[in-house]
Amino acid sequence: MNRISLPRFRGYFLLSVVSALSLYYLYRAITYRFVPAGRLGPTLFNKQFWYFSHLIFALPVLSGAPLQFIAPIRARAPHWHRAVGKAYVVGACGAALLAIYLGAIVGEYEGSRLSLALTGSLWLFFTLAAWRLAVGKNFVAHRAFMIRSYTMALVLVWLRLMYDFQDYLFFYVTNPDLRDATREWASWVVPLLVVELWLAWIPTVRGRKRA
Ligand code: HEM
Repeated sequence: MNRISLPRFRGYFLLSVVSALSLYYLYRAITYRFVPAGRLGPTLFNKQFWYFSHLIFALPVLSGAPLQFIAPIRARAPHWHRAVGKAYVVGACGAALLAIYLGAIVGEYEGSRLSLALTGSLWLFFTLAAWRLAVGKNFVAHRAFMIRSYTMALVLVWLRLMYDFQDYLFFYVTNPDLRDATREWASWVVPLLVVELWLAWIPTVRGRKRA
């Protein structure tokens, strides 16, 4: 019988936790925005259509990404990995552009505008970089950029997780507007720093080559 290695077990465990959190927070985001009357914007082209489009583009990202990290799927069904990857790239690029529009252009919260413009732009850049590296068959760098891209996609989760624990995480920020802005920035800066530490900085310091 094939035994699963400890690092792979850890990876799958993390992936399961992230997938469960994604489903939970997606459910909450949908029931918050799409279920009660009057939260989608006044007219079809004044936000309603853009909210729906953002969600439709984001769905293949959230459902497809965890499968892409499962090594046996990549090894035994590379055509499936490529098909899901293409859906991910199209979904992430569409959702990122719409996130920039909804958050930075027509968004109501001034403190969120720059943060969302940067999150959306980085998400777009990491996704396109991962795609280009896959086409160029640089799979080590491709994997690293996919992890970066997925980390940005998971802002959906990080933001809401930080909201739920804000009384512990941001207890020192008492002004509610400042707290919202701090949470908005922390929701992508902190996960991205953790990922860079793991992917690039620590391996570099230890003298290992990593993307
Ligand atoms: C695959 C991941 C994602 C999914 C499934 C997703 C889904 C959703 C859903 C269901 C909503 C409506 C709920 C709400 O307004 O709070 C929403 C809104 C929004 N999302 Fe995403 N999203 C994802 C990633 C992102 C990312 C990475 C960004 C930032 C770059 C982002 C930016 C926004 C913005 C700005 C809104 C509108 C918020 C508002 O008007 O208050 N989303 N998203």
